[in-house]
Amino acid sequence: MDEEMPSEVSSVEAEVARETWITRMGFIFAVWGSMTGLGNVWNWPFKVSVLGGGPFVLIYLVLLALIGIPVVLTEFVLGSTFRRGFPGALKRIHPGGEFLGWFTLVNAAILTSFYVVIIGWAAVYAGYALTMAPLPGAMEVAPGVAPTFLDQPYFFVNVLLSPLTVVGLIAVWIVIFIIDYFGTRGIERSVMIFFPLLWIVIIMMALFALAQPGAAEGIDFYLDPLRVDFDYVEMIGKATGLSFFKLSAGMGILTAYASYLPRKGELTNSAVTTSLLDTTFAFTAGLAVFPIAATAGVLGAGGAGWAFIAWPGGMTGVGGNLLGFVFFIMMVLLGITSAVSLTEAIVTAVMDKWGWPRNRTVIVIVLLLFVMGLPFASWFEAPGSAGGEDVSWGLYLLDIFDYYVEFFGLAIVALFMMLIMAWVWGGSKIIDAANESGDFKLPSWYTWVVKIVSPIGIAIALVFVALQGFYMPGVIADDPGTAPLLFQIPFIWFGIVVIFAIILWRMKGVD
Ligand code: PFF
Repeated sequence: MDEEMPSEVSSVEAEVARETWITRMGFIFAVWGSMTGLGNVWNWPFKVSVLGGGPFVLIYLVLLALIGIPVVLTEFVLGSTFRRGFPGALKRIHPGGEFLGWFTLVNAAILTSFYVVIIGWAAVYAGYALTMAPLPGAMEVAPGVAPTFLDQPYFFVNVLLSPLTVVGLIAVWIVIFIIDYFGTRGIERSVMIFFPLLWIVIIMMALFALAQPGAAEGIDFYLDPLRVDFDYVEMIGKATGLSFFKLSAGMGILTAYASYLPRKGELTNSAVTTSLLDTTFAFTAGLAVFPIAATAGVLGAGGAGWAFIAWPGGMTGVGGNLLGFVFFIMMVLLGITSAVSLTEAIVTAVMDKWGWPRNRTVIVIVLLLFVMGLPFASWFEAPGSAGGEDVSWGLYLLDIFDYYVEFFGLAIVALFMMLIMAWVWGGSKIIDAANESGDFKLPSWYTWVVKIVSPIGIAIALVFVALQGFYMPGVIADDPGTAPLLFQIPFIWFGIVVIFAIILWRMKGVD
């Protein structure tokens, strides 16, 4: 009995000291801010249009109900029950759970470091739309003439091959630092402004787009199922990966955010509301971008990187510089609220484990993540690329890591978290915790969704993605000099994540 006293006292102290969201709305907006990010305007519309149009949207919604929302809810339950970040909360279920927690956050750190690089590009684009100052760069469209938004891919290549990538990176990190320095207060205040602002912008943009002459053609491109050859294995695998990325699941964020709830906070309601708001925003973004791209005649141009290749010209061509600026500032703000959440997941875990104060933790973590992002912002030209295909080392690394983090990292974490929560802790405890407050009560059969349906669904999706073969960007994979090195990247990634996770897990802390 006596031995238990100190730990009880310290956990009571932790309860007293822990920050909380001011309102439940603040929590919901913050989670929405995390979910709704670059993925909504870039990843989602692109995947819908190439993988299956309207039917892909339906498959996505079904998977959201069977896999995505149960995972979001379970992460919420974990955080609000144990009031700790991801490693600290999982440790309370099983000592080995803490390892999964750090594995997740090291993976999250890699994701954050390159995600902010992409926001940095958007910031450079927004700056250009505003000032029209010619970009310094290797590629000129005519002697002495720098490319504009309309000269693609040269404009994009010039950004990638210039130190502007690092300038954008620094600018974005400064904003993230300021928001996260003030903790839940900073996050809540910023999303309270960004939430209405971003919704107004995307709705106005969609209305403007739907009034353009290319509207019908754009919508067809976006949603018409007859345009694509269906590959259900690919659709299901990729839709699941996409849903985790979209929902910020499998990164410890939702747990960290829920750990700051003042009391049990209507978790089921919050999980459903935030997930649907996120999907609706993504859907609306598709309605905004495709009609504009069709009107500008750049539909489908530029492949996966089209947000930075085809759309800038499309936006300014159809709506002038103002629309170009609004579009890229929107991307910057969407990205920042997501990047803040990734940073905060790591900050929360470090504060919990070592008892560091917030200001010191935020300074250390932001500097670390900034330095980790520098390779992804590297503007040196990659070997083996030629002419219009010129690409930087940074973009190649980013492409590869993005693929492994999105399609494997998040799903692996979500799978093991579901297994620990539903089988080691208890599926019915998840349902009880979710039902503790709120009008909407989950039925008892939902236990089987979290125990069986969702984990098996994730496992199937992982197998389906693996069946597609492993992705490597073309030019480098074809280049005999660099291919051997880059094929090892997935293994290097996995090795690094495991080693750092073990170190962090075994380090002595105060929690
Ligand atoms: N959900 C964000 C988006 O769709 O852009 C990105 C993201 C944030 C992914 C946080 C994963 C994550 F943990």
